[in-house]
Amino acid sequence: MDTERNTASNGTISLKELVAGNVELGVTHSGVVRMQIIPDKPDGVIRVAEARKNIPFNIERVYDIDELTRPEALRGKHAHRQLKQVIRALRGSFTLLLDDGKNKQVVKVDSPDFGVILDGLIWHDMTDFSADCLILVYADAYYNEADYIRTYDEFLELTK
Ligand code: TYD
Repeated sequence: MDTERNTASNGTISLKELVAGNVELGVTHSGVVRMQIIPDKPDGVIRVAEARKNIPFNIERVYDIDELTRPEALRGKHAHRQLKQVIRALRGSFTLLLDDGKNKQVVKVDSPDFGVILDGLIWHDMTDFSADCLILVYADAYYNEADYIRTYDEFLELTK
């Protein structure tokens, strides 16, 4: 069985609170990025993600996660060794637990205007998806199962 996750935990913060600058993320290997937002009135808004600009790496892969309709849905439950990602809720919201091995931070991902950085060596769980939630992820490498850390004990060893 995995070691109990008993590291320090900060309160839940929303992306909007974070970018307002009143609070800071309590974990390493993460952060918040802002999409370029072009209000193209009267018919919509354009949000732009650009590699090496607001997305802090070369984008090699983009994937989305949809149909998160089960109330008990749970995704993530892993970290990566090297992979860098930025995760956004294009529609709806979800709760993201970030854990750097020493500290935890729960973030309510509740705005399409921002993304959360998931660098290597950050354990993440995703829960509490709104029924309309649509997630988009930018990654700096192709899918590689060998890059995954899927047991919490191994993660704790690597982050000691
Ligand atoms: P996983 O990364 O564990 O999903 P999440 O972090 O959203 O919970 O991936 C779930 C499954 O999908 C796993 O079997 C690997 C596969 N997968 C790919 O084949 N390619 C990909 O680009 C991704 C993201 C996942």
